Amino acid sequence: MKFYIASDHAGFETKNYSIEYLRTKGHEVVDLGPSTNDRVDYPDFAKSVAKSVLSDSGSFGILVCGTGIGMSMTANKFKGIRAALCYCNFTAQMARSHNDANILCYGQRVVGVGQVESILDGWCESSFEGGRHSDRVKKIELD
Ligand code: RB5
Repeated sequence: MKFYIASDHAGFETKNYSIEYLRTKGHEVVDLGPSTNDRVDYPDFAKSVAKSVLSDSGSFGILVCGTGIGMSMTANKFKGIRAALCYCNFTAQMARSHNDANILCYGQRVVGVGQVESILDGWCESSFEGGRHSDRVKKIELD
């Protein structure tokens, strides 16, 4: 899988940990920053990942902030982005298999590294089931 990933200062360490973990598993990961844990604004990084995912068909995004909330709120402003705030393996699996989510969000202040590995495994090992879920996902877009 190919991922674009970014964080703010509150998600910086977990972003770096996630990159290492995914690369170890053989995934391609593009780090869109930040490169230090200096204070930054999460919407700037959420927009960067959302735009990258939209312009690279089949790719996915990962956004990490303190809670994952601000990142998911920002990314979901983009038409075609379905950003899911996940906190365990099950929610990550469901985000892919039922919601066809294309951006995974989580919070460094919410989940520990063990949980992050479990979330990433759930996401990577699942795929969209289609069928009845396709009709529902289409309805997410505003009429
Ligand atoms: C930063 O303090 C924090 O507000 C941010 O990382 C995030 O949790 C926002 O949703």
